[in-house]
Parts: sequence; C-alpha cells; structure tokens
Amino acid sequence: MENKKTILSGSTVTGNLTLGNYIGAINTWTQLQEQYDCLYFLADLHALTVHQDPAVLRERTYSFFAQYLALGLDPQKNIIFAQSQVPQHTELSWILTCLTPMGYLNRMTQFKEKAEKHVKNINAGLFTYPVLMAADILMYQADFVPVGEDQKQHLELCRDLVGYFENRYGKGVFRMPEPMIGKTGARIMSLQDPSKKMSKSDENEKNFVAVIDDAKKIEKKIKSAATDSGSEIKFDVENKAGVSNLLTIYSVLAGKTIEQLEKDYEGKMYGHLKVDLADVVVQKLQPVREKYEDLMKNRDHLDQLMISGAERASERAEKTIKKVYETIGLVRRR
Ligand code: TRP
Repeated sequence: MENKKTILSGSTVTGNLTLGNYIGAINTWTQLQEQYDCLYFLADLHALTVHQDPAVLRERTYSFFAQYLALGLDPQKNIIFAQSQVPQHTELSWILTCLTPMGYLNRMTQFKEKAEKHVKNINAGLFTYPVLMAADILMYQADFVPVGEDQKQHLELCRDLVGYFENRYGKGVFRMPEPMIGKTGARIMSLQDPSKKMSKSDENEKNFVAVIDDAKKIEKKIKSAATDSGSEIKFDVENKAGVSNLLTIYSVLAGKTIEQLEKDYEGKMYGHLKVDLADVVVQKLQPVREKYEDLMKNRDHLDQLMISGAERASERAEKTIKKVYETIGLVRRR
C-alpha cells in the first residue's frame, strides 16, 4: 500500500444512484481499486444541509453503501465509509472554517443556487458546505480526487485554504490532491432532456435509471427516452443528443464501440435500439439488484462493514488531525 497513490472521493447521500453514476464514476472505481489506495465515503453530513427525514437519511446511507458493494467495490481493497462515522471530518472542518473568509463563501455559485432553491432553509451549513468538503479532501493526504465538473469551485476553495493555512502556519501539513474532473468514465445525460446531466437528485424519475430499478421500470424509462427528429441512428451530440446518449450507454455497458453500434443499427429504427438497449441495461443491473437485496437483508453485516471502514479511515484521519493540532497550537490530543 505504501507506494500506491491515494484516491479519495465522496458522494452526497441524496436521491438514487443512477446509471449515470455507475457509468461516469463507479464503473471506473472498480478498475482503480486494483492500482490505487482508494477511499470512498458517503457524505451524509453534507446531506444534512437540506432537510432530511431521519428514517430516510439512515436508510439511504445503508442503501448507498450496499449499492456501492453490489456494483463491485470491494470493501477490503477500498476503504468505504460514512462521513459521520469518522469524527475527524467535522473537527478539521471547524479549524478550516476559522481560516475561511465569509466573502469567499458568499461568492460560491453552488451556495447561491441552493439558497435560491431552498429559500425556507438557508442554514449556515449550506454556506459552510464547501469547508467541510475541503476537510474531507485534505484528511487523507490523497493524490487524486475524482469529482464532477460542478465541484470545480469547491476544489479551488480547498486549494486556497491550503494556501491560507500555509501562510499562517507553514508548509508540510496538507497535500492538495490533483482534481480528476470528468476524466473518468463517460458523461451520461438525462433520458428526457439530454442537454442536462443525468442527476441522482432529479425529481422526475423518468430522467434517470436507478441502479436498483427493476426490469419493468428500466424498460419503461428507456422506451420513453427522448429521441430526436429524423430516424437515423448516428452519434451526433449536437443534433442528436438523445440518440447519442443512448448509444453512449449502450457502448459502455455492452463493451462495443460507437462505430460498431452505428453499423449494427444501420437502417433500423429508434425503437429497435431502445428495445435492445433496455435489454442490455436489465442484463447488467439484474445481478446488481440481486446482490443489493441480499446485502440489505443483513443489517448486522452491513453495520460491521461500515464500522470497519470507518475505523480504517479514522486511523488515517487521526494522523492528519494530530499534525494539525500540534501546528496550530491546540493542546495534545488524547
Ligand atoms: N460535494 C460532493 C458532491 O455533491 C460530494 C463530496 C463531499 C465530495 N465531500 C467530497 C466529493 C470530497 C469529493 C471529495 O458530489
């Protein structure tokens, strides 16, 4: 493990894991787990920045964890954990909060968007959300952080926080990892509106396929996916965004090139493509769903795996926190 590079990524526990998450990220994580030292966590604390029903939040955290495993992430090869079970995240977050200018957070576009969307609940956590994220990122001395394009500004803040910290206290405590933005996997678009990314928190179920959807739902959603005018099955994102999106999904899941698929579907209709694609998706997700259901049946086992992940993460996080305490003048820890 010593000479492997470290990767860290997190996912807020909201909505449902979708085919987009699978193809865009998780599918590549299962390859990364062989070559890198990987930590993946469920950002349940970040989820609290919008109102959560307690029972739903807890259930969803178990569910996401089980989905990660069902999708092929190995809890031995990777460290998979829930953010709230590793208290160092919130501890470091406070320390970084005291280095963060209010004005900087005020300019964050995601804060502005969220504040507009949740007018009745503009809480301070929504505001300091990116600082907690910086704590996550800096906790494990990671080399790489794979994130979506929408997280770019949060990473810039993180980099600046390292700068502020070093200006005040000197270097050597944190390593700023390299962002891997959109470099892993293909970008999957919404089924109904292929100009938007397929999003796990989309309110319209028809826009995404959840990785735990059953065959019936999958077929229905793919069949009703928006296609474009014309009838030719060709990859052309600008003029045929819908069909191109379906071809991308097909290509990744079936391991065929786009060119091959274009040939296979020459002279055929959109309907053909959709029927076959639905079949490919069902074939791929059926075993995932079965494994997921098995895992969810045994909560004690899930609990054990989560606690063990949290313990392994915490041991590493503690090294960073100790260094921080020493550096900034807090008294000795434990
Ligand atoms: N904010 C990220 C998202 O919504 C999730 C996240 C929280 C994260 N902390 C992180 C991602 C640290 C990468 C690293 O997608």
